[in-house]
Amino acid sequence: MGEDQKLQDKFSQYLENESIFNDKDVLSTNYKPNDILHREDQIEELASILAPSLKGNDPSNVFIYGTVGTGKTLVVDHVCKELKSVAENGEEPLDTVYINCKMKKVADTEYRLTAKLARELGADVPSTGLPTEEVYDRFFEALKDTEGVVIIILDEIDSLIKKIGDDFLYNLTRIDDDLGSTKVSVVGISNDLNFTDYMDARVKSSLSEEEIIFPPYNALELKEILRQRAEDGFVEGSLDDGVISKCSALAASEHGDARRAIDLLRVAGELSERDNKSKVTVDYVDTAQEKIEKDRVVETVQSQPKHSQLTLYTILQLSNNGGNVVTGDVYSKYKDIARKAGTDPLTQRRISDLIDELDMLGVIEAQVVSKGRHGRTRKISMDLGEHIESKLDDIITDKFYLN
Ligand SMILES: Nc1ncnc2c1ncn2[C@@H]1O[C@H](COP(=O)(O)OP(=O)(O)O)[C@@H](O)[C@H]1O
Ligand SMILES: [Mg+2]
Repeated sequence: MGEDQKLQDKFSQYLENESIFNDKDVLSTNYKPNDILHREDQIEELASILAPSLKGNDPSNVFIYGTVGTGKTLVVDHVCKELKSVAENGEEPLDTVYINCKMKKVADTEYRLTAKLARELGADVPSTGLPTEEVYDRFFEALKDTEGVVIIILDEIDSLIKKIGDDFLYNLTRIDDDLGSTKVSVVGISNDLNFTDYMDARVKSSLSEEEIIFPPYNALELKEILRQRAEDGFVEGSLDDGVISKCSALAASEHGDARRAIDLLRVAGELSERDNKSKVTVDYVDTAQEKIEKDRVVETVQSQPKHSQLTLYTILQLSNNGGNVVTGDVYSKYKDIARKAGTDPLTQRRISDLIDELDMLGVIEAQVVSKGRHGRTRKISMDLGEHIESKLDDIITDKFYLN
């Protein structure tokens, strides 16, 4: 059989197979379900806090926190939508502005964030070129023109503080005083529970006039959330018993993350479909878990600083030759590679720290071994599988033109 024929057969076979997905969009994490389960209290609390805006009163600032995948973004989006739809039929003007501070090129400088906010309120601001003060003035004018309540939602606000500090928030939470009839309220959302430690006490107290906590979901709650998604997302009968329980149990043990639970279910479905199975079995959940974990490693490496990537590259090169990699060898080879990449090598001490960090992130494993009276060293190993290791190798090679 020729190669073309084989490929045609593969495609026809694919077409013939009934899909196990009914509507895969439902299983994407951007999908907004109609029913939000197990968040009645948080919805109720946020609604009560924001309700005064309907009568033209200034609602308290709210600080919302909980680990990733606990439904924060979903709940805030839902409550604000409902609030706006009621406000549209009412007397008092109400605006909401949503910004995800983690998005690239949105909140990495004070200029960008202020410009984005001003634009959301209808002002005209170029993406570069004005003095920051001027951008701030335009934002301020746009707020004034809005007249009425403006609710500013800053999602992933912890990454904002890490990037630009808290001066901006300080000003924002006090902006009301000079605005005349416009009233501003800030809803800050954070995945990082300890991040207020990095904030000025005054900013902290004005931002958290009210606080809402989103606890992790337990396995039972996750199961119900998944069941609801599966009902619309999969063709009936395409999930084996135990698939949903397994996804829920795994996600519950990883800090009750609904996003992870949904990802597991979707990826298990995709992998089953790829193997032409008509049903998803529990085994595919394990495979999905491995795949997601590996994708996570690739993402982690991509977001590491330059020298961390070069250190990892060095380790990849050394472990290619088989045998153990020890830290001393890493440093001498790293120096060559750094130069080849056109950058000055860091000190051995710094590289040692970067190795620790890669270990902590689960990319490599660095084990301390004794060399007797010669002191101690670390033995480095990797266990990501050939496929991922060569992928990481390719990514770094391309980035620094190392070939
Ligand atoms: N209570 C819930 N009911 C249904 N789906 C949920 C619920 N909580 C979270 N999800 C889903 O889980 C994913 C993560 O939720 P999200 O609101 O983005 O979490 P967070 O903002 O806390 O990280 C989304 O796809 C969301 O639709
Ligand atoms: Mg979120």
